[in-house]
Amino acid sequence: MSFISSDIAFAEKALTAGELVAIPTETVYGMAGNGFNESAVKQIFKVKNRPFYDPLILHTNSIEKLESWGLKIPEVLQPLAKAFWPGPLTLLIKKSAQVPEIITSGLDRVAVRIPSHATTLDLLSRLPFPLAAPSANPFGYVSPTTPEHVAVHFEGKIAMVLDGGPCNVGIESTIVGIENGKPTVYRLGGLSIERIESVVGKVQVNTSSSKPSAPGMLSKHYSPNKEIVTVDSITELRKIETRKTAFILFDLKKDVPPAKLIQLSLTSDHDEAAQKFYDALRHWDNDESITRLVIERLPDFGLGRAINDRLLRAAAK
Ligand code: TXA
Ligand code: MG
Repeated sequence: MSFISSDIAFAEKALTAGELVAIPTETVYGMAGNGFNESAVKQIFKVKNRPFYDPLILHTNSIEKLESWGLKIPEVLQPLAKAFWPGPLTLLIKKSAQVPEIITSGLDRVAVRIPSHATTLDLLSRLPFPLAAPSANPFGYVSPTTPEHVAVHFEGKIAMVLDGGPCNVGIESTIVGIENGKPTVYRLGGLSIERIESVVGKVQVNTSSSKPSAPGMLSKHYSPNKEIVTVDSITELRKIETRKTAFILFDLKKDVPPAKLIQLSLTSDHDEAAQKFYDALRHWDNDESITRLVIERLPDFGLGRAINDRLLRAAAK
């Protein structure tokens, strides 16, 4: 069998045997292992070179299964689960005794999500345990949105990549928990604040990176290996020297050779930009003729906010 395969039964067997399988989701590919099997979970940290203080998300296919493991969605968050699961939403809820400490890095909340991807929902429905799955990239690097993105780093190191094609949201899930009794967003992601607020009203946003054990928001993350310059306006863009430089643009137009330009959307579509964003970063990172990437910030609404957040962290020194 080839490393990238759509053989769900094989994935099921490997995961049941405690091995790792990269799985497709609508957001990004995940590096999955049995979330109740400590040695499988340890292996996830190991292949990703991920520090143990960065906790993992548990994935499953139904709220009933979560409940059977003692994981209850608090009332404040239930409308979100109802409206957006399966989908790019992760909820931080009270941990139960069945969840190993290694999953939560010792915190008393656990992150849970029902992803929206037919192949993975099929796989999850066959498994009596949840899948712990961080993004399937080496720690700190750009997240994977195609099976090939996973294969370049992990071929030979895990059982397989379950092929689900390119991810159609393209950035990680939005993480929501409760603070002072109110829904609070800890990581901006594939579900926009506007959509969340359309269901539960105004929410707090707390994506600070001061505490690395708090929702996954290390200030340096999602980083390609090139210098990154961000631009907001045509004036800034015109000043940029084009030598050894490639461009990822959204609305702005600049006279650069098409071979040095990726336009994230031709119709100012934030969702389309999110879908293409990580692939664009990886594309230029693999191009040895360039040393610098010029990337346009998006208008700060919809998924533009999440993309700008990733951009800031990717550009952090
Ligand atoms: O879209 C996604 O969420 C993808 C796909 C595969 O589902 N997964 C993903 O996982 O982005 P990861 O590990 O790359 O990012 C999850 C973040 C972590 O950085 C972590 O800090 C935060 O979620 N997190 C997980 N459990 C937490 C907890 N108990 N308390 C606070 N933050 C938590
Ligand atoms: Mg990640």
